[in-house]
Amino acid sequence: MRSNAFLVISIIASFLLAAYAGNFYQDVAQTFGDQRFKILEGGQLLTLSLDKTSGSGFQSKNEYLFGRFDMQLKLVPGNSAGTVATFYLSSQGQGHDEIDFEFLGNSSGQPYTVHTNVYTQGKGGREQRFSLWFDPTTSFHTYSIVWNPQRIIFLVDNIPIRVFNNQESNGVPYPKNQAMRVYCSLWNADDWATQGGRVKTDWTLAPFTVSYRNLNANGCVKVPGSSACGSTNSLNNDQAWQTQGLDAKGRNRIRWVQQKFMIYNYCSDAARFPQGFPTECRGSRF
Ligand SMILES: *[C@@H]1O[C@H](CO)[C@@H](O)[C@H](O)[C@H]1NC(C)=O
Repeated sequence: MRSNAFLVISIIASFLLAAYAGNFYQDVAQTFGDQRFKILEGGQLLTLSLDKTSGSGFQSKNEYLFGRFDMQLKLVPGNSAGTVATFYLSSQGQGHDEIDFEFLGNSSGQPYTVHTNVYTQGKGGREQRFSLWFDPTTSFHTYSIVWNPQRIIFLVDNIPIRVFNNQESNGVPYPKNQAMRVYCSLWNADDWATQGGRVKTDWTLAPFTVSYRNLNANGCVKVPGSSACGSTNSLNNDQAWQTQGLDAKGRNRIRWVQQKFMIYNYCSDAARFPQGFPTECRGSRF
């Protein structure tokens, strides 16, 4: 009897955990794109499509003040020139904060570019761009944003690629007062995205489709109508993100990525900042 009850409880518990993991019906709402937004496989898979008329997108139902956000993406295969898929956090309204992953498509056989940016109080212009050490169109890979009071970390398959430290002590605004939602979209930007806008989208290949799965928003959920941060909703009760930084292994890995795969860094673009680099570029990097 006792062991039966225990069995039933374990089955229910594992069902709840499984049901929670990446259930898009429960966790997100469509933002645009009509039937180009599709939730499949009982909420485990979400696809966004882009055709000549429109792209598509969605946002998380919850707003978060700090957290760790993991999403698996499989990007548009083949000739994806001019398409941009996104996974980012943003607050709303004037002076907004935003933490961006954008995936810039390319012509067949040419590498995708991962574009990152951080906006604080409405001001962005902090681009860093990377190529990847794998083909992001053949299988799912995990892209993560860790956002805690000390720093923002961008990770790809759990390898840190970028860190934006809290440098408020040097007068650099840091996102910490405005709750953010998770946003994802697929849209067309062939005026700038691929090879500086020279390569246009081939619309005979439309619709273009990107797949999302396993959204894990492990953060501090904002209580609606209040500025308070309520429960932490966590799949595995892993609160490590709250103080996450880079250990020696993480520092080695980010050096490897930045040496081999970084394509652009605003902090190295002297021509863009003739009066001197932004303050945050001066601090220690990791
Ligand atoms: C596309 O491929 C070209 C040539 O390999 C490369 O220079 C460029 O950075 C790639 N990405 C984009 C988004 O244009």
